[in-house]
Amino acid sequence: MKRFDSKKILTIISLSVVVALIYSFSPKSDQEKWVAPAKYDSMKNPTSASDASGMTVGKNLYMQHCKSCHGKDGLGDGPKSAELNTPSGDFSTEEFQSQSDGSMFYKIKEGRDDMPSFAKKIPDYEDIWYVVNFLKTLKE
Ligand code: HEC
Repeated sequence: MKRFDSKKILTIISLSVVVALIYSFSPKSDQEKWVAPAKYDSMKNPTSASDASGMTVGKNLYMQHCKSCHGKDGLGDGPKSAELNTPSGDFSTEEFQSQSDGSMFYKIKEGRDDMPSFAKKIPDYEDIWYVVNFLKTLKE
């Protein structure tokens, strides 16, 4: 009887491990909300959206590095979007636009899952801020 019980316990434990493994490897259909750390969230954008040459830099970097996934208007419909495990979001929405500049800066710099980190590809942080300014022009 005692032997039977321990077998049963072992079975339950192995089943739970299997379930946990399947769960952790399955694609996340419900992507967790992406929240930037407070330190970034409250960061001030050192550049100005009315700086026309900065805006051109931001737009060009966007077309070069971001359009493939996010689409030229930021709707998340770029040619690569079909291959992504998670949707890349819609930059025209109020929900996206209501986050702080610092939060956008953090997400571009650090990346997450299929969103690459651009800390190396756009090494001058001022350029990332210019891209942030451009993203803010994509609102509806
Ligand atoms: C290879 C595809 C890909 C490329 C290239 C890419 N992104 Fe993304 N991006 C994603 C995906 C996928 C997500 C969603 C990530 C998540 O939620 O985990 C995302 C999320 C974001 C977010 C956060 C969206 C939100 O709802 O807050 C921002 C901001 C962003 N990307 C900006 C950029 C910028 C700017 C570039 C270019 C410098 C860029 N991305 C290039 C795939 C990409």
